Amino acid sequence: MSIKEIPVASLDAEKFIEEQAGLIHREAGAQPAVNALSGGVDSSAVTLIGHRALGDGLKTYFIENGLMREGEAEKVVAVFRGLGVHVQVVDARKEFLDALKGITDPEEKREAVTQTFYKKVFGRLVRESGAKCLLQGTILTDVDETVAGIKRQHNVFEQLGINPEEAFGYKILEPLVQLRKDGVRKIAEALGLPASVYKRIPFPGPALAARIIGEVTSEKLDLVRRATAITEEILAPTGAFQYMAILHEDRVTGVRDGKRDFGMQIEIRCWDSLDARRAIPTRVKWETLEALSLKILAEVPGVVSVTYNIAPKPPSTMEAI
Ligand code: XMP
Repeated sequence: MSIKEIPVASLDAEKFIEEQAGLIHREAGAQPAVNALSGGVDSSAVTLIGHRALGDGLKTYFIENGLMREGEAEKVVAVFRGLGVHVQVVDARKEFLDALKGITDPEEKREAVTQTFYKKVFGRLVRESGAKCLLQGTILTDVDETVAGIKRQHNVFEQLGINPEEAFGYKILEPLVQLRKDGVRKIAEALGLPASVYKRIPFPGPALAARIIGEVTSEKLDLVRRATAITEEILAPTGAFQYMAILHEDRVTGVRDGKRDFGMQIEIRCWDSLDARRAIPTRVKWETLEALSLKILAEVPGVVSVTYNIAPKPPSTMEAI
């Protein structure tokens, strides 16, 4: 089934929200529903549309998978508390780390995150809550890239011939699937979300696991999490579409305190893009890159090399895995 795109120029935000809330109400009915909130613009918009449709009939969870950015759970819970939505934090760190153990192939990593999220963690939450459906923030770009076989987005099933009811035991509703990122931002603003959410840069579902080349371990997660915080702080003023730090697997020779240090490499990417389908590296000021490099070298233990990616998408993709 092909999905009819709603371009941002012809999107009537209020009408869209009312229609989608009505659809959710009809589909879920009086049965309880659940959704996962990561704090990104897509899942935040779905959370508010879902609560408009179902009120307390919708249970919203933040899955602490150990792959999230610094302070993410606390920030998300506080923003939604301010909007009158209770978010329950579920500690699933061990399950995700166990599932990722020993895996180096990018698509296998994505699959491990997907299975742990939908089958294990959500399977359990759905059973416990008696929910019959899951609301999620899949957008059209996720579907396009998955169907084109570029990257398996963690949240796309039907278009791959997977029936979630058979595979996981619950139905999935996707109110944003006709929109691209710019459309979702418009909806999120109309829903009354703060600018810190509706202007938030995209962050992938597999989270920091998508920013580590090779096996994901808790030590590497700590390093890339710190590098990510520094990168986001220093590159935010660029106003770019997205910026990220990637931890490489290969080591290179460095020198620290007069001694050889066979250390780690961080690659920085910063993108100008409209909708993530095509992207070019932002012409970041040299002084900014220098400041970023020095802060990472000083504050991320074991890193001796910081590089800036200058290849456009295509042929690059925005994330490294
Ligand atoms: P790529 O790397 O495919 O990224 O050029 C395009 C946009 O999609 C985001 N991205 C993902 N989002 N699940 C997601 O929800 C994923 O598996 C995933 N992979 C990439 C990426 O951050 C960028 O904004």
